[in-house]
Amino acid sequence: NYIGVDLGTSSVKLLLMEHTGKILNSVSREYPIYFPKPAWSEQNPEDWYKETILGIKELIKNFDKTSIKGLSFGGQMHGLVILDEKDEVIRPAILWNDARTGKECDYLNNEIGKDKLSKYTANIAFAGFTAPKLLWLRNNEPENFNKIKKIMLPKDYLAYKLTGTFSTDVSDASGTLLFDVKNRTWSKEMLDICGIKLEQMPKIFESYEAIGCLKAELASKLGLSSDLLVAAGAGDNAAAAIGTGTIGEGKCNISIGTSGTVFISSKSFKVDPNNALHSFDHADGAYHLMGCMLSAASCNMWWMDNVLNTKEYSKEQEDIDDSKLAKNHVYFLPYLMGERSPHNDPKARACFIGMTMDTTRADMTQAVLEGVAFGLRDSLEIARKEGLVIPETKLCGGGAKSELWCKILANVLNIRVAKLESEEGPSMGACILAMIACKEYESLEEAVSKIVKLSKTIEPDEDIAKAYELRYKEFKELYPALKDSFN
Ligand code: XUL
Repeated sequence: NYIGVDLGTSSVKLLLMEHTGKILNSVSREYPIYFPKPAWSEQNPEDWYKETILGIKELIKNFDKTSIKGLSFGGQMHGLVILDEKDEVIRPAILWNDARTGKECDYLNNEIGKDKLSKYTANIAFAGFTAPKLLWLRNNEPENFNKIKKIMLPKDYLAYKLTGTFSTDVSDASGTLLFDVKNRTWSKEMLDICGIKLEQMPKIFESYEAIGCLKAELASKLGLSSDLLVAAGAGDNAAAAIGTGTIGEGKCNISIGTSGTVFISSKSFKVDPNNALHSFDHADGAYHLMGCMLSAASCNMWWMDNVLNTKEYSKEQEDIDDSKLAKNHVYFLPYLMGERSPHNDPKARACFIGMTMDTTRADMTQAVLEGVAFGLRDSLEIARKEGLVIPETKLCGGGAKSELWCKILANVLNIRVAKLESEEGPSMGACILAMIACKEYESLEEAVSKIVKLSKTIEPDEDIAKAYELRYKEFKELYPALKDSFN
């Protein structure tokens, strides 16, 4: 059996899986996220570790612990975790949706220049990527910057605590802007620009490679075998792509989690000429392109939890039937944390537009779901402009649990949406990566073909999709019209 750990933004999700893909148990444990200043977003790595260990204990409590052969991770990407010479965390991790690095991104994109960044890394700077955070730290917290012995990404902190190996994998390293994606190695030029030495960076592995075994003392504390192999794992999007079988040429996976991503797998290295899509390494040994919106399921969570003050998400969606789709007059711009793809604007803000006296609570709920679907369509359009043909997508993440949201998405994107038996893309992918490290299967293709199972496919409806086409055209005009008022 295998353990998959998905270190998410709102919680850590753990799966215990048989080599056949049968899910034996799943556990999720939350930890706090802090927004200490507007646009800042931080978490304590110690919380991740504490909850992961408690989660593992709970996950395996009623199962044969000695039969667990491997463990791996999917993890929230781009977060900056820094340790000092005593291996203590220096300051809270600065997360992927933190927007404090506007100035540093301007410096990288405009003074160093996008051409050079793209040549060194295949990407440009976005607030939330790791390199601009290091520059921010050097400019704003030099005493912390000078203490840095080890730089790692969120899931790599767990890997380090579990195994003692200072490592990362190619897919997650791709999101640092310190990494030469094409050649799968740290970029000497980028490390110099950020004032970082190679020895401060983790060793690079492919996602499915073993980095070591569980530390002996931890293994005995948890009742697990000290031969349990830990695989490097992947950034949550690449892990989700493995978990949904998105490997090979031109396959698409969309995740509606805290963030919303459109992930397109590719056998060869590709860069979008405008760098609007990220060009990253895939966990399958190849490459992928990706658009990322910063607030997806989190928009609905904010609307339900903070504004409507309810936990009954599906009840709020009950009255929104087919007759209402694409007939709503309200728009929602989903920029609660600024936006990455496609606007690259940390100052963008969310808003409702177009309400009248007869607007209902359900209309506004629908607008939130539609606004996120329009945001995902923005990323898909960039890929389409690059000539990529995407007739179908897989779907994962918490938002995929809503039938209504799946239907809205299929019609707004006007493509087939394939749902899987489990929405838990990253932790499924993590289990599969651990299986490869343990040589349970000979290849990822074989593992994926045996393990990943579709549950149903949602086809767009011709009339609804046509009506959404017009709504999307209007949606696209809103951000440019409002942009100046956000600054
Ligand atoms: C991807 C990104 C997010 C996080 C979410 O570039 O920033 O999808 O990985 O955990």
